[in-house]
Amino acid sequence: MSLTRYEPAHPRLQRSELAVPGSQPALFQKALDGEADYVFLDLEDAVAPADKEQARTNVIAGLLQHDWKARHKTVSVRVNGIDTHYMYRDVVDVVEQAGHRLDVVLVPKVGVPADVYLVDALLTQIEAARRIPHRIGIEVLIETALGMANVEAIAQASRRLEAMHFGVADFAASVHARTVSIGGLNPDYPGDQWHAALVRMVTACRAYGLRAIDGPYGDFKDPDGFRAAARRAAALGYEGKWAIHPSQVPLANEVFTPPPAELERARRILLALDEAARAGRGAAQLDGRMIDAASARMAQNIVAMAAAIRSSPPDPLSVPERGDVASSPSPEGRGGQGVRTPTTRA
Ligand code: GLV
Ligand code: MG
Repeated sequence: MSLTRYEPAHPRLQRSELAVPGSQPALFQKALDGEADYVFLDLEDAVAPADKEQARTNVIAGLLQHDWKARHKTVSVRVNGIDTHYMYRDVVDVVEQAGHRLDVVLVPKVGVPADVYLVDALLTQIEAARRIPHRIGIEVLIETALGMANVEAIAQASRRLEAMHFGVADFAASVHARTVSIGGLNPDYPGDQWHAALVRMVTACRAYGLRAIDGPYGDFKDPDGFRAAARRAAALGYEGKWAIHPSQVPLANEVFTPPPAELERARRILLALDEAARAGRGAAQLDGRMIDAASARMAQNIVAMAAAIRSSPPDPLSVPERGDVASSPSPEGRGGQGVRTPTTRA
């Protein structure tokens, strides 16, 4: 293990990220009542130019009127891109007026680290001026060729960064991929044409302590296609996936919750290795397979995720069997400003 380590970002449960257009405030209450771990109120691509200002007003009201934290949701606002004239007002108006109710700003189409720096600088000033008591996180969409080309540098751009989302629709457009369905597979390609991009982004995320989140699957009448895409992402290390329709939320929660058999095996791996360690051995056998310290690290990831899900408090106003479904394990952001800096282990 290197002596240089980037600590994990502020923890949040992000199995499902429900997209809610800011222009449709009637959907805010439904999002609050649903099972999504994370809700993002959208000011960007789901909102037509003529509705942008009204959507901003709706989002501010939605943050102030609804108690998202009491319902154990992470609430985020997707602002417009840095290259639009909407973006500065999105950040200034939303954070000045409702920043004390906001967990995360989601920045689309990030291309270079300076895009993140701009948002960080604005948040830092507004938090100080408005005495916002917590640190608002930043999450970014990697969805352009430029963003993917710079993904490792972007991952280190700010200590507010918590996660990156792979925006497959805009990415397809940006690289001129031959595709017709958002997040679906092109049968002309032998395998998953998003694989290389997904791997590059998750590697950048994990190197610098961030979570990786998979983006949309457009055909909401195709639950099997959604599940398959989510499973491919989960297999690579992604922690969650967008839901562009409420029906996709339970599917994402299901796929990104470790299945009982996987959890059981992870626990048995840890027990077997504990026993081996007591007997002075580093490796062991379980069910006819060799396991060692790397197996323990993999198992620990599964056990930790299951524990985070279990320890999240159930929504007091939701259905009782929701005991295992949850949101942010901890309400506070990480301290500190500026770029992400590594720690050096002695
Ligand atoms: C999301 O914004 C996407 O472009 O996929
Ligand atoms: Mg997009």
